[in-house]
Amino acid sequence: MLIIGTLSGTSMNAKEFLLCEIKSEDKIKPLEYFKDNYSQDEKEILTDLTLNGGDTEKIALAHDIVGISFSRSLKKFLKEIVKQPEVIGFHGQTVFHKENGKKGIKALTLQIGEPSFLSLMAKKPVVYDFRKSDISAGGRGAPLSPLIHYILFRKYAKKICVVNLGGIANISIIEGDDFYKVRGFDIGPANALSNFITKQKLKKEFDPNGKYASKGKIIENSFHKILKIFDRSRKKTSLGFEIEQAKKICNEILKEEKAEDAIRTVIEVSVKLISDELNMIKPSLAIFCGGGVRNSLFMKRIKEDSKVPAVISDELGIKSEYIEPMLFAFLAYTRIRNKRINMKNITGAKIPYLPGKISLM
Ligand SMILES: Nc1ncnc2c1ncn2[C@@H]1O[C@H](COP(=O)(O)OP(=O)(O)O)[C@@H](O)[C@H]1O
Ligand SMILES: [Mg+2]
Repeated sequence: MLIIGTLSGTSMNAKEFLLCEIKSEDKIKPLEYFKDNYSQDEKEILTDLTLNGGDTEKIALAHDIVGISFSRSLKKFLKEIVKQPEVIGFHGQTVFHKENGKKGIKALTLQIGEPSFLSLMAKKPVVYDFRKSDISAGGRGAPLSPLIHYILFRKYAKKICVVNLGGIANISIIEGDDFYKVRGFDIGPANALSNFITKQKLKKEFDPNGKYASKGKIIENSFHKILKIFDRSRKKTSLGFEIEQAKKICNEILKEEKAEDAIRTVIEVSVKLISDELNMIKPSLAIFCGGGVRNSLFMKRIKEDSKVPAVISDELGIKSEYIEPMLFAFLAYTRIRNKRINMKNITGAKIPYLPGKISLM
């Protein structure tokens, strides 16, 4: 089956699309990749919504804007490729994610982007709202990526940690062939905070190769203040809200400190959280993916502080940026095939469920 998986991560750096050929649950082949940017206007609306929240009108508008924006990009992609997809798996844009135990619901999450705009344009079924189905089944809605990490990487070593360095750093722990032993959780920020600072102070989307961070020094008290938000004893599997809290501390730091020092400080928070986690788990191999692998200073510092064998997924022949779109192609495949997934030990979902809903116009 030919399926496109698409999403924009928390970094909002790009709307990414990957056409995959899926023959079975273990045979997923990436065929064509495409990425497109949000317009400056779209980005401002989304950044404001995630940081400051919004009233119902603001949310309704952003929801349709994201749907229209993805359908436009999808149209461009479909023109470029010869083989056309039969199904599209659409994650949308996360604008809110918070774990809480209120009223028996394990987490509140919101991925926006009206799928009808995509299904109307492509005339194909669009599977969407994957996290909502997990939460309805009693789960936390995250993390979902351990599923694809297990499929792609389990053969490479006995005990594997896959660390995704997106806006947030999340980890999957895979031991052998048993999917029910896989665990996964968010560790803390990867690029989210440094991106936040470079945007505010340097008018840059990110710190290219860690150029600014390498010129800065750690601001000790701010380092500890941010680290505390992501304390391991917090017992949370997925972060989102906490990242927004940390951004507010970054705003305070920037009133007095140099941008370089602030960037170095938040990068070192990420290095500390990630390397402590790896040193505790002691995997036989750590595999890194996500945009953060392109930041050479960040990778160098993680490798220095974590005493475990490490590779970047590209070195194993799987391009770092393909992995997340592949996940949503795979989830759409299982939904269309009416196959249930069992996320009990990863998200806490109490029953196996069909991931996502289907929009077809
Ligand atoms: N050359 C680079 N130097 C530094 N950072 C980079 C580079 N390329 C990508 N990144 C980082 O990776 C991020 C995108 O990673 P991605 O995995 O797409 O995150 P998300 O899933 O949150 O969208 C960018 O926002 C940036 O911080
Ligand atoms: Mg991204």
